[in-house]
Amino acid sequence: MSKKLSGKVAIVTGGSKGIGSSIADHLAREGAAVVVNYATSKEGADRVVAEIVKNGGKAIAIQANMSKPSEVQRLFSDTIKAFKKLDILVNNAGIYEFAPIEEVTPEHFHKQFDLNVLGPLLASKEAVKHFGESGGSIINLSSVVSTGSVPNAAVYSATKGAVNAITRSLASELGPRKIRVNAVAPGMVETEGTHSQGITESDFRKQVQSQTPLGRIGKPEDVAPTVVFLASDDASWITGETFFISGGMR
Ligand SMILES: NC(=O)c1ccc[n+]([C@@H]2O[C@H](COP(=O)([O-])OP(=O)(O)OC[C@H]3O[C@@H](n4cnc5c(N)ncnc54)[C@H](OP(=O)(O)O)[C@@H]3O)[C@@H](O)[C@H]2O)c1
Repeated sequence: MSKKLSGKVAIVTGGSKGIGSSIADHLAREGAAVVVNYATSKEGADRVVAEIVKNGGKAIAIQANMSKPSEVQRLFSDTIKAFKKLDILVNNAGIYEFAPIEEVTPEHFHKQFDLNVLGPLLASKEAVKHFGESGGSIINLSSVVSTGSVPNAAVYSATKGAVNAITRSLASELGPRKIRVNAVAPGMVETEGTHSQGITESDFRKQVQSQTPLGRIGKPEDVAPTVVFLASDDASWITGETFFISGGMR
């Protein structure tokens, strides 16, 4: 059976851990050659690449801080050097920090906006230079908090609200160039990030779980198949959409 993404090349930002590592793995299983981007965890990225290669796929790891323009440019030029083309960009790298309004500082704001909002903009700008005649697919990681009412999350929620707005705007702008732009908005997902922040062990998790119709928080592999779908020709008439993947929690 032919694979949905055979011959395609994908970049997954923040692919060394959590949701991004599962997305990289799922894209590769459908035949895409995958660039696994990371910021600091070379070991994590190498592990994701090794797993893909073990399963017969193609992947390489490339370090780049996605909030730094020169590093983002290098990520794309090194991708083209390695795989000659680009078809899919998954803007997954992101950070979440929760704080009551009394503790919001310019540093808390810029740290999250620089990666979660400027990052996808810089990466999309590079991607459109490198997508070929047949266009491309950009998939942004949003969150249920982009439209929800979560306390102590004003800044993080704002970054993901911006991601939804960027998704709609770029979809309109880039549609005529056959570039589709969509987003996935997960609910709470158990990852290295949520563990290190103590989120998956907190009362907040219990509260989210109790308000989730499907009765549990997510796993990275709950999110990745929708990203594969959006990257593939199965979604060839879908652009500007944000898909909530959250067990029914809104
Ligand atoms: N987990 C959730 O509950 C949840 C829910 C909704 C949305 N999301 C969104 O989903 C995405 C992934 O979340 P996650 O929980 O899987 O995160 P995670 O486990 O914390 O992993 C984050 C990934 O992003 C990379 N990264 C961090 N800073 C970076 C930078 N400056 N440049 C490039 N890469 C960087 C990390 O690389 P290093 O390992 O090298 O640092 C790592 O691969 C984020 O956009 C997040 O906002 C998560």
